[in-house]
Amino acid sequence: MDTVSDCIYDYPKYYDLVFGADCAAELDFIEACAEHFASGTVKRMFEPACGTGRLLYQLARRGYAVGGIDLNPKAVEFCNARLERRGFDDRAQVADMSDFKQRRKWDVAFNTINSFRHLSSEAAAHAHFESMGRAIRKGGLYLLGIHLSPTSIPPSETESWSARRGHLSINTHLWTLDRDRRRRVERFGIRFDVRSPTKQFRIVDELVLRSYTAPQMKRLLARSGCWEIAETYDFAYDIETPIEVDGSCEDVVYVLRRV
Ligand SMILES: C[S@@+](CC[C@H](N)C(=O)[O-])C[C@H]1O[C@@H](n2cnc3c(N)ncnc32)[C@H](O)[C@@H]1O
Repeated sequence: MDTVSDCIYDYPKYYDLVFGADCAAELDFIEACAEHFASGTVKRMFEPACGTGRLLYQLARRGYAVGGIDLNPKAVEFCNARLERRGFDDRAQVADMSDFKQRRKWDVAFNTINSFRHLSSEAAAHAHFESMGRAIRKGGLYLLGIHLSPTSIPPSETESWSARRGHLSINTHLWTLDRDRRRRVERFGIRFDVRSPTKQFRIVDELVLRSYTAPQMKRLLARSGCWEIAETYDFAYDIETPIEVDGSCEDVVYVLRRV
């Protein structure tokens, strides 16, 4: 199989198939959190690091005003083209989630699959919570989904999944390259094996993510001063089943409320 080393985010069509195939649980969870934990009416939803806007588009279809930002222009173009094609006025913009401004405040924001960990320093992570604090109204929410580094059990090392649309199928594999606990840097290999009737090839990339233990995350959030932890969940996205975050937790969704 031909192999290219490239940034997977530069292939929005493939990314969107791999991650957008089944979003129903995430979408229902976002709406359930809005209902349970936000004050007032929720009509406006925002996603930092929105990528292809797989969730924004579905939320627009559910009647919300939506907006997002992402660093990758190809992803933003894909996101906006789909919104425009389906008749929605809402748009995403190219911006850095550690330093951005929004013209109007949003009710609820979400960032569900680890994108926050792309911010490579404590300063950038802190600046992100400050920017988010300016973007979300008081009583609004920020749902932050990340993989924490467990301290009482070994971390997961690999993950594989598949997605198909029509004749296009993509097998995805993610594996750990190394973890530097002292520098809090984790490197992962990721590959998409793309198969269609006319072509077959592999895209290989490396993801570099900052790591967080549960106490490191708690300290960072406390330092931001504008977010309280309203509740915590895992990636089962079951609103009736919150979790207690401890050293064995990996998948965590923090329901943060703007104070
Ligand atoms: C794993 S994807 C998630 C995309 C989308 N949130 C989703 O759930 O499908 C991570 C995204 O983070 C974006 N990203 C990385 N660093 C960023 C930054 N500093 N500011 C904004 N976006 C960033 C990438 O371009 C990529 O689209």
